[in-house]
Amino acid sequence: MDAAIFLEVQEVSSYDLLKVHMKTIKMTEKVMGQIAFFLILGMNFLGEVACTSSNGSLSESRPILTLGLSADYPPFEFKQDGKIVGFDVDLAQEVARRLGYDLSIQDMDFSVLIPSIQNGRIDFAMSGMTITEIRKKNVDFSDVYFKSGFALILKKESQFSKEEDFKGKKIGVQLGTTMEKFAQLKAQIYPDLKVVALGKNSILIQELKSERLFGVLVEESQATEFVKANSSLKSFVLGSRGDGYAIVFPKDPVVGRVEFLKEKFNAELKNLRKNGKMRELRLKWLGKK
Ligand code: ARG
Repeated sequence: MDAAIFLEVQEVSSYDLLKVHMKTIKMTEKVMGQIAFFLILGMNFLGEVACTSSNGSLSESRPILTLGLSADYPPFEFKQDGKIVGFDVDLAQEVARRLGYDLSIQDMDFSVLIPSIQNGRIDFAMSGMTITEIRKKNVDFSDVYFKSGFALILKKESQFSKEEDFKGKKIGVQLGTTMEKFAQLKAQIYPDLKVVALGKNSILIQELKSERLFGVLVEESQATEFVKANSSLKSFVLGSRGDGYAIVFPKDPVVGRVEFLKEKFNAELKNLRKNGKMRELRLKWLGKK
């Protein structure tokens, strides 16, 4: 039988995050997986959790890893017909399957991913997250699996050809992202540039379409997708490139529910590069190798 991947999808707000604080102790992964499962039952989560397998039965023995992401960033993580899909989701599922885990997905605002890792609410995050020095103080990163530059999404009729065109504009960014930092730096150079930071990119795109924003800053691959899905929009590539996307883990593995995930994930990333799976996923989601 094909190893089944179990998907639990939950919406998580910052409020939920405050309510649930999983204290963890050092134990073997298998025992922890089972305990966590019963803890979740005890916390009255059952009503919200949809846990199905390919044959429709409830998950039995495989331990569950909880992945946190912000499902508003196509083609890496986004909602399609009510399901969370994308490059990151496929990659996380593949690695989890190879390590013998089932995956549970929690959708949350990007800005609460790191706190959720720190308090054990999620085991890891994969959400197109760029490695930064500040983040490295709070969480641990895997090897880089993707690199992207920034891009500005605009209405088709808007004019933007050089950085000085930021002057006097209202630009949207997702809260807590590297684009927010970038925009704030530009606002120091152009004091009449107004930066609007919101929780989800989907809302920013709506604001742009209804002309309450001049532009939305995202990254190149996402700009391509947003423009593909909205014929009234276009994008302008801004050179800047971060250190690349990586998978995010608790800094101290003992704080997390599962120890030393980072090393195991890095080994699997290497395997997936070797066996062609990574190339396959790039082709599937990005249309390129
Ligand atoms: N790469 C940027 C960062 O790390 C943006 C990531 C946004 N991801 C998302 N799923 N919305 O800050």
